[in-house]
Amino acid sequence: DKAGHKHFMAKEITEQPAVIGDALGHYLSADGRDVTLPGDGLDFSGFDRLTMVACGTAYYACLTAKYWFEQLAGMPVEVDIASEFRYREPPVTPRTCAVFVSQSGETADTLAALRYCEGKADTILSVVNVDESSIARESDLALPIHAGAEIGVASTKAFTCQLTVLLLLALKAAKDRGAMSADDMADTLSSLRGLPATINHALELDDDFAKAARRLSEADNALFLGRGLMYPLALEGALKLKEISYIHAEAYASGELKHGPIALIDKRMPVVVMAPRDALFDKTVSNMQEVMARGGKVMLITDHAGAAETDEGVWRLIEMPEVDPVLAPILYAIPAQLLAYHTAVAKGTDVDQPRNLAKSVTVE
Ligand code: F6R
Repeated sequence: DKAGHKHFMAKEITEQPAVIGDALGHYLSADGRDVTLPGDGLDFSGFDRLTMVACGTAYYACLTAKYWFEQLAGMPVEVDIASEFRYREPPVTPRTCAVFVSQSGETADTLAALRYCEGKADTILSVVNVDESSIARESDLALPIHAGAEIGVASTKAFTCQLTVLLLLALKAAKDRGAMSADDMADTLSSLRGLPATINHALELDDDFAKAARRLSEADNALFLGRGLMYPLALEGALKLKEISYIHAEAYASGELKHGPIALIDKRMPVVVMAPRDALFDKTVSNMQEVMARGGKVMLITDHAGAAETDEGVWRLIEMPEVDPVLAPILYAIPAQLLAYHTAVAKGTDVDQPRNLAKSVTVE
């Protein structure tokens, strides 16, 4: 049932405020000032490191979480693609917490990576959407993301719910390790409770994204750039675009631009820049200027403060609602999804069943 939407993907995009709210309801204490996990007893102060393993969009959720765990909890984190991890024979030290993120809970490579860690890691944690899945069953602790069934092949609400649960885990780790005060934690959780309303405001920009996407749909290639927490989001934006619109898209950390990809820039190359006005904004602006100086077409997705500081020459600008910088990746998933969705609609591709893709990849 598409609930009046043309595609499951559109329905699932608009469900995000509700399902994120639902996930928060399951993981916050009654007074909203603390994180509570099912099956208490998980304590991050006993771990030396986190090893996070996943595929595709779930891998980008892990990459985002790496920034959170490092910045908020001071915890060393490595992130790996499951198909690489499982065959590399990586050493897993005893005080490792191994985290597997999977919407379906059945991805063959992720499951094999989990089994590789059994008997090596201290704790095997999973972040899943399907509670009765193999990955959930074989973990010491499975944390459900509460996104509800996801039908569209391209992951949308599962991604933002994965991010939400991973951020809550990073906050819990920060508290366990004495890296964050109870008041700072309560402040961040209070912003997080406001996030569903902010996402609703971003969803109201649907027409702006549809207009921008009509221009994007004329391109053969696109680049996505981001720095810091926006780098994994740039990767997710490029993946969404290629999988449903079949436009060739690549993402780079903005600072990598001059190490190669800038050679691709010409007047036919749209460059989507995801950049709220955060501590790294000025650096991203200078990368953007390098693109524009070479004729590249910049589509800037920023907030009010960012728009005010941007000069002429930007091809398209979309102004997002303001958000606590730590939550920006969850909010900026919306433009990544809506741009891809509307580009696919403009091109007339099969949004919910893109060619060659399966919802659950149970063979390697
Ligand atoms: C992209 C997408 C895939 C999945 C990947 C992992 O939109 O949906 O990249 O994220 O196949 O699947 P799960 O999360 O089920 O392990």
